[in-house]
Parts: sequence; C-alpha cells; structure tokens
Amino acid sequence: MAISEEQKTKNQDLKTAVIGVGSLGQHHARNFAELSGEGKGKFVGVCDVNEENARAIAEKNNCDYFTDWRELIDKVDAVSIVTPTETHAEIACEFLEKGVHVLVEKPIARTLEEVDKMIAAAQKTSAKLMVGHLERFNPAMVALRPHVTEPLYFEIHRVSPFPNRSLDVDVVLDVMIHDLDAIQWLVGETVKVSEIRAVGIPVISDKVDAANARIEFENGAVANITASRIGTEKIRKTRFYQTNSYVVLDYATKFASITSLAPNAVHPLLGISVNRLEIKDIEPLRAEIEAFLNCIINDDAPPINAHAGRQALELALDVLKKIEMHRSLLNV
Ligand SMILES: NC(=O)c1ccc[n+]([C@@H]2O[C@H](COP(=O)([O-])OP(=O)(O)OC[C@H]3O[C@@H](n4cnc5c(N)ncnc54)[C@H](O)[C@@H]3O)[C@@H](O)[C@H]2O)c1
Repeated sequence: MAISEEQKTKNQDLKTAVIGVGSLGQHHARNFAELSGEGKGKFVGVCDVNEENARAIAEKNNCDYFTDWRELIDKVDAVSIVTPTETHAEIACEFLEKGVHVLVEKPIARTLEEVDKMIAAAQKTSAKLMVGHLERFNPAMVALRPHVTEPLYFEIHRVSPFPNRSLDVDVVLDVMIHDLDAIQWLVGETVKVSEIRAVGIPVISDKVDAANARIEFENGAVANITASRIGTEKIRKTRFYQTNSYVVLDYATKFASITSLAPNAVHPLLGISVNRLEIKDIEPLRAEIEAFLNCIINDDAPPINAHAGRQALELALDVLKKIEMHRSLLNV
C-alpha cells in the first residue's frame, strides 16, 4: 500500500541518534542511517565519550557526532542508548523527561529502582520506552512464535568465547537475560516464577562467568538454562517441549523446527514429522529498530515495553541471589 504524503513527512521528521557506538552501538548507527536513507526517521548523529569512536562511526554513516549526550537532548525525537548498563538509567531518564523516545539496550538497567525511575520519567511525558531484547526479533523466533502453545520444559544453552566487553556485568545480566526474557515471554508474561535454583562462578573475570539456573513457573513449566562467556565456541540453542510437539530454536544459525506425530499417524511408529520453519532472513537489529520507529510513528505501545525489561531484570537478579547463596554455602 502506498503511504500518504502526510505519513511520509511524519516518518522523515522523526530525528534520531545513537548514544554509545562501541561494539553493538555501531550497528545501531548503521541501521538507523539505512532506515533514514529509506525515508524512515532522519538520522542526526552519534554520541560517544570516546571521540575517536564517535568521529569514525559518524563518518561511516554521514552524520554529526557528539561526545556529550546532553548536547543531543534538544536536537532529537528518539534515541537508542547503547552505552554500558551502569549508565542506562541516568541517560534514559534525562531524555524521557524531555519527551524524547528511548530504545535502551538490555539489560534495561542495573537495579529495579533505576527501572522504576525510567518508567516514571516516561510516564511523565508519554515518551515511548522500549527495551532491546534482540532475540525476540531473531527471524527463527519470529517464525516460531505463532506455533508456541504451552511450553512445559526448556533446555537452553548460550555459550560464547570471552567477549572482552560488557565486563561491568556478569554472565547472567550480560547473556542469560536473553533467555530469561524469552522463557517468560513464551510461558506467558503473567505466569509467576515459583522456584529458582542456580549455580555460577567467576572463572576469568571478577564476576560470574558461567552459570546454570533451573526456573520453575507456577503453571508447572520448568526451564534449565546454561550460560557461559568462557566457551570455546558459540552456541545459542533452545529446545523445548510442549504438548504434542518438540521445538528446536537456534538463534545463531536462525533455525527453527517443530517435531510432532505425522499428520494422520496415530502412533510414533507410523510416522514423525519434522517441520523446519520457513525463515524470513531480516537482520534482527534492523527489525528491532524499525519496530521502535513504527511504534512512535503509529503511536502504538512499544513491542517490548519497560515492564517486560523490568521482569527480565528481576528474574536475572533473583538468579544472581541464588548463585550468591550457593557460593556462600560452598564458601567460594
Ligand atoms: N541485545 C544484544 O544482543 C546486546 C549485545 C551486546 C551488547 N548489548 C548491550 O549494549 C550495551 C553496550 O554494549 P557494547 O558491547 O556495545 O559495549 P562497548 O563497551 O563495546 O560500547 C559501549 C560504548 O559506549 C561508550 N560510552 C560509555 N559511556 C558513555 C556515555 N556516558 N556517553 C556516551 N558514550 C558512552 C563507550 O565509549 C563505548 O564506545 C550494553 O548494555 C550491553 O548489555 C546488547
């Protein structure tokens, strides 16, 4: 459907910027710039306290650069915050209080108190606040989501080589949080967690580098999640079982399949069907940023709101508490 001239102007008038253009932020900048070139938003600039970084990414994307995010407050309508987690709340609150829409990277913040301040700031001005739980935009998850009924048992592995970044947080807040968000979303945002058991240890950094958590929900669903940032390979695999089907989801290779009894078969020996889902291969970050811009342009609720970000953070902090309890018992 052709878009109206009024809609075109509305799209192009939306001034955007990215704050923090390190390893992930540079890709936010590229996607905002590409979308701006396609008439969605007007990409104004990037900001990074590291001037060299800011200048290089600005040159690549043909935009202005800044080293102090406060200079951007009156120049933009929407920003992506891709700075270290410890800075999210301070930066987000100032923009939200001025009515600037915010897409903030995961984890939304360090503490629930910080998140509540962010939610209050957004409510004051009705600015949109979206959280970048990127895996929800992975094409394999997008293809799978409509087939999810009532997952009952998850086995999840997320392993990566040591990142040399994001060391301000541990492996739970850095990477396990992706899976904590996903299981809560798939089990149901209103289904409460009833029990958590967890183990984790620092191995290379001074924070927990490898962890395992068993999460039980009050509807009986159980998730067993392993996360490590000191692996020798990259694994991002989720397997889960729901009544009548077994699901495999691989975020790294963008693969999703559903195994069930073959149509018309009444017994497993009469046939099992493995349905490999068709994937629409879109860069997840582009889909996330486009969803953010769309929710502003169409005045819709953000697809991943601050409450979902808060819920994932709360679960991650509870896992960390259990890890600490376990470590204190072992005295390590
Ligand atoms: N969704 C995902 O899959 C995913 C993946 C990686 C990182 N992240 C998140 O993105 C955020 C950034 O991670 P990263 O790996 O890109 O980190 P990084 O260290 O590579 O980059 C952060 C950048 O922010 C800049 N910065 C720091 N403080 C700033 C400030 N006050 N103002 C402006 N710039 C500032 C730094 O100079 C650096 O260039 C973290 O919250 C992390 O958890 C999310």
